[in-house]
Amino acid sequence: PTISRHDYQPYPYQIEKVRLEFDLAAEQTLVRLAFRASSRDGQIRPLVLDGEDIELLEVSINGVALTAQDYQLDEQGLTLSPQTAEFDLVLVSRCRPQDNTMLMGLYVSGKNLFTQCEAQGFRRITFFPDRPDIMSRYEVVLRGDAKLYPYLLSNGNLLESTTLDDGRTQAIWEDPFPKPSYLFALVAGDFDVREREIKKANGQPALLQVYCDRGDGDKTEWAMECLEHSVRWDEQRFGLELDLDRFMIVAARDFNMGAMENKGLNIFNAAYVLADAQSTTDASFHAVEAVIGHEYFHNWTGNRVTCRDWFQLSLKEGLTVFRDQEFSADMLAQGLDGAQAASARAVKRIDDVSVLRAAQFPEDAGPMAHPIRPESYQEISNFYTATIYEKGAEVIRMQHTLLGEENFQAGIREYFKRHDGQAVTCDDFVDSMDSVYRQAKPGQSLEQFRRWYQQAGTPRVQVSLQHDPAAQTATLTLRQSNAPAGIENKSTPKPPLHIPFALGMLDQQGTPLTLHLDGQQGDTLVLDFTETEQSWTFTQIPEAPVLSLLRNFSAPVRVDYYRPDSELALLARHDTDPFARWEAAQLLATRLILSSASGRTPSAAQLATVVQTWHALVQDPALSPAYKARILSLPSERELLEQTKPMTPRTVVQARRQLQRELGLALTPYWQELYQYLSLEQAPYSPDALQAGQRSLRNLALNYLLVAGVNTGPQLARNQYDQATNMTDRMGALSALVNYGDEEDRQDGLDDFFQRWQDNPLVLDRWFSLQATAPSTQVAQVRALMLHPAFSMRNPNRARSLIFQFCMNNMQAVHTPEGYAFWAEQVIALDKLNPEISARLARVFDNWARFEPEARDQLKAALERIQAEPGLSGNVAEIVHKALTL
Ligand code: ARG
Ligand code: ZN
Repeated sequence: PTISRHDYQPYPYQIEKVRLEFDLAAEQTLVRLAFRASSRDGQIRPLVLDGEDIELLEVSINGVALTAQDYQLDEQGLTLSPQTAEFDLVLVSRCRPQDNTMLMGLYVSGKNLFTQCEAQGFRRITFFPDRPDIMSRYEVVLRGDAKLYPYLLSNGNLLESTTLDDGRTQAIWEDPFPKPSYLFALVAGDFDVREREIKKANGQPALLQVYCDRGDGDKTEWAMECLEHSVRWDEQRFGLELDLDRFMIVAARDFNMGAMENKGLNIFNAAYVLADAQSTTDASFHAVEAVIGHEYFHNWTGNRVTCRDWFQLSLKEGLTVFRDQEFSADMLAQGLDGAQAASARAVKRIDDVSVLRAAQFPEDAGPMAHPIRPESYQEISNFYTATIYEKGAEVIRMQHTLLGEENFQAGIREYFKRHDGQAVTCDDFVDSMDSVYRQAKPGQSLEQFRRWYQQAGTPRVQVSLQHDPAAQTATLTLRQSNAPAGIENKSTPKPPLHIPFALGMLDQQGTPLTLHLDGQQGDTLVLDFTETEQSWTFTQIPEAPVLSLLRNFSAPVRVDYYRPDSELALLARHDTDPFARWEAAQLLATRLILSSASGRTPSAAQLATVVQTWHALVQDPALSPAYKARILSLPSERELLEQTKPMTPRTVVQARRQLQRELGLALTPYWQELYQYLSLEQAPYSPDALQAGQRSLRNLALNYLLVAGVNTGPQLARNQYDQATNMTDRMGALSALVNYGDEEDRQDGLDDFFQRWQDNPLVLDRWFSLQATAPSTQVAQVRALMLHPAFSMRNPNRARSLIFQFCMNNMQAVHTPEGYAFWAEQVIALDKLNPEISARLARVFDNWARFEPEARDQLKAALERIQAEPGLSGNVAEIVHKALTL
């Protein structure tokens, strides 16, 4: 069934307080729920409670037990017919955590019990109006076996913990803040705990705790560090304080997503908590920082102010991603200033934009395209998407750009002043920002800007430039369009968007120009681009300028501008905006790769321009190692593929590899020199920006040497592997050997790695991923790996590491008839265990129609095979249906 945004109806009852009692056990858990419901308008209406996959044992109203004639019970839930407008309800039900392979609701991971309630997991725990606009205060009583569950945790404050007569432990928790059911959590189990006492900005103490499996306690120091940094950052940058005395993070081995912001009790995928130098790469250290920040920041943007309904999901997710991106950028730029700080922040911006382009642009170009505030959905768990999260963050970032930091913060204060403790809409957020914007810019408003919440699709901006030497003016003309996307109605007009378009100019020697425009002046100007076609005339420009477009990626659009490679080369060397500079280098490489992928042999001059640019950049002493590693890397296969029409994965992979080889060969002495220089004695390991940058640049140099077949390469990689004292070095060497080495190096490396790390599941995930994505791996090897004793479909991280990695990132092998058959088979197999995860796998080829004809036919047949499977989940059915209808 399709649910539409416009069908929202308030719930007729209010539920102020909820009391929950749990008799916990893996096999079966008894849940006793008690609340008083009061009709909002005094009328007596049916009470509709959601409930899924749970057994109703008893229900009473005002102390009177009901019998089966008194209620309706079906697959979706329970409907009661109260006799008064206010009444007390008590309900006892049973669930079976052990059989819960979906990992929504109450489930078992290892020997411990965890919950995941967002979006609709609470209804798998008890019968309840499981929707975000029902906000209640919770009191929770947990009882369980003292040996199995020495820790019994829930939201808020621990009121008491006692031993019962029967030997079990009982803990009582109270959450002082009203919350929706999706933020409820409980955890029962045995853990290692790390604690830290901090003082909040208001002087009050708070206890921070990080829980993980026994034996992993030495790997939570970084998580604790990140948590404290998050608390400090939110105090300092946003003026938002921790509102609890106690804040807990718990790591779970089995988890569908990254993590969950349950009030005071965040539950995490262990991959985003555990970190130490030996077993964790720099990239993972930074991912831990980002996710811990993200969940912590939700405490205000998500929990104190939450969503009225799930169409508003981006209200909390877009805003919170924006906040975690800024947090990470501020951490990278800490202690730096001026151009160095800008370059450090640009590294984060580059990584975020790469994610947007690799994940969100394709989504906007496929059958699941939706506005950041969707108009309809069938299965809400299919809408935790790159659009809601990453494009949502871009839409918040544009508001930040339009308002500036100070006014944006004023808008945030206004938002909390108006809505603290409420469940609200995206419009409410923009209203708050708009009230500040209107004051700051009389005569202007965010009215047009709101269209970003209504339109799906990636807008295109066409650029043209007219220079008048006599008048010394340059006239820039921008044209915007946003074609219908996904299931959007082709006839619905898409009026122009309000696009903040940041722009700079250089002269033909690469010297930055000061822009003059109607009394404004600066190196970078942000144009308010609001019409379909619009022009701006800049003065005091004697010669034709070189445009630096969409600086810092000021809007989530594609830019079309025809210009010679020589201009891109100039920007790649001289642009003062580090993002636009990186972009110019990427575009230069992209043009070459895409032209050879389409069968045209690039000219010698074209190749020479790329090589000379890389040559200049590799030697540039002003670039930080982290930035250098990004600018010298080639665009990802995924981003490149996205730009071919029809999509031709295998030729894209080959063409990219070809340019890698050329650059490896043409610049061999430089890669060698860089490699040697970066191999000098290191300070003790730290994931900081400088060290991490050096390691990634060194790994990049190593890769260029191996891919080019330079004969010293394999020995360098073997040595690096053997001598590594951290996972970034070890993994960098191993992946170079596995991807570009010979059969013997590959096998030796993989065997040794397995021997060293077989007891660490997170590292073992990498061992699977590496093989899943290696160019030498075919479907048969993946099938063999699935039979490995360490493989399990039930653990999402493991399934992702092998099956998803193969289907998404081994383009050579998956784009074959066997590859497609394997994909369809795994979607069907996973669907029986975990529909949410299966639907994500189904999405890998929802864009089938954009591939070259042969692939298209085969993929369509594979989708039809999935669709024909009896008992398909609603999750997968929605994806397959949309994919096949378009
Ligand atoms: N709110 C969580 C986060 O952004 C994600 C929860 C996703 N839940 C789900 N069932 N997909 O961190
Ligand atoms: Zn989130």
